Amino acid sequence: MLDALTPQPADKILALMAAYKADTRTTKIDLGVGVYKNAEGVTPVMRAVKAAEQKIWKSQESKSYVGLAGDPAFSDAMIGLVLGDSVARSSVAAVATPGGTGAIRQGFELIKMGAPGATVWVSSPTWPNHNSILKFMGMSFRDYRYFDEETCAVDFDGMIADLGQVAEGDIVLLHGCCHNPTGANLNAVQWDEVIATLNAQKAIPMVDIAYQGFGDGLSSDGEAVRKVAAGCPETIIAASCSKNFGIYRERTGILMATGGADTPLTQATLSFLNRQNYSFPPDHGARIVTEILNDAALRADWEAELEEVREGMLKLRRDLADALQEETGSNRFGFVAEHRGMFSRLGLTPEQVEELREKHAVYMVGDSRINIAGLNAKTVPVLAKAIASVL
Ligand code: LMR
Repeated sequence: MLDALTPQPADKILALMAAYKADTRTTKIDLGVGVYKNAEGVTPVMRAVKAAEQKIWKSQESKSYVGLAGDPAFSDAMIGLVLGDSVARSSVAAVATPGGTGAIRQGFELIKMGAPGATVWVSSPTWPNHNSILKFMGMSFRDYRYFDEETCAVDFDGMIADLGQVAEGDIVLLHGCCHNPTGANLNAVQWDEVIATLNAQKAIPMVDIAYQGFGDGLSSDGEAVRKVAAGCPETIIAASCSKNFGIYRERTGILMATGGADTPLTQATLSFLNRQNYSFPPDHGARIVTEILNDAALRADWEAELEEVREGMLKLRRDLADALQEETGSNRFGFVAEHRGMFSRLGLTPEQVEELREKHAVYMVGDSRINIAGLNAKTVPVLAKAIASVL
């Protein structure tokens, strides 16, 4: 049986991580995987996370199972954080999942059960693992236009034209904020038009929100998903706590489904799906998040630190855009300051990306996606010079 296995395609982002690790050059710059790093290149444990862990360590008396859906307090806290009061709590079904990817996977499983023939429409480009999981699950999926390679902004006319082709009952996967990999995002008016188009087509939105708090702020970054949930009869939402709580390895995420006539049935189906795939979801990260969101002091500290992280990335964006302007003598890369979140797609060719890696030890994903948080005050000018030299 094992001899029948065939090699599977390597995940480009994870392969890049390994290549960076193997590079012995001391000047190397890692702009690959979407992990936040501070100016010292460290992915810190957030202060509120440490404090919450301490509280849990002191007070937790059992490691017994919690429940198939996870702790209801985690669901309540996360529904509050992501959806606010955009929809009634009684119309939301939710389960804890192993990370945001677990939520995406469970969301696709839910679609398979509720709409087995539906096509899932994904932005072009999207996070490569969206396509990979859909393919692995044997689900039908198609692209809608999203990114204008010339301007490095959203191709909104193309997007709306393609969403106008979506069949009734199809699913449209949207990035709630901080689009991965491009960094180009819709404005509020554009979101309204997307919602109107989805409703006209009778399509169902699925929102992946993995970077809430990394774009325009914790509350602003949730506005789009709230609009979608309030404006569409049914919405599936996959939210990650990996980045905004910095608890990547704890695998903490949540799948939510809003609307529908029978929320208890949706809830029971989500719990069933957890049981089939891994039984009880991980609890430690979810407990940290619950402690933080439900304790006023911890929450204020977490929000303050998250805001420092966000502002730091915004400054790096502005500094890089300025440095690129100086090095290239043009505003070709001005969009870097306009993009939001952790990523920007620079619009370089695969050959230029390769040259940056070989000659300058700069590691970015092959589509020229950079992780802004991989930079610091010292490496911004180095990167700008290196980019200018390969143009
Ligand atoms: C990324 O896009 O780099 C992150 O979401 C990490 C991952 O798992 O790919």
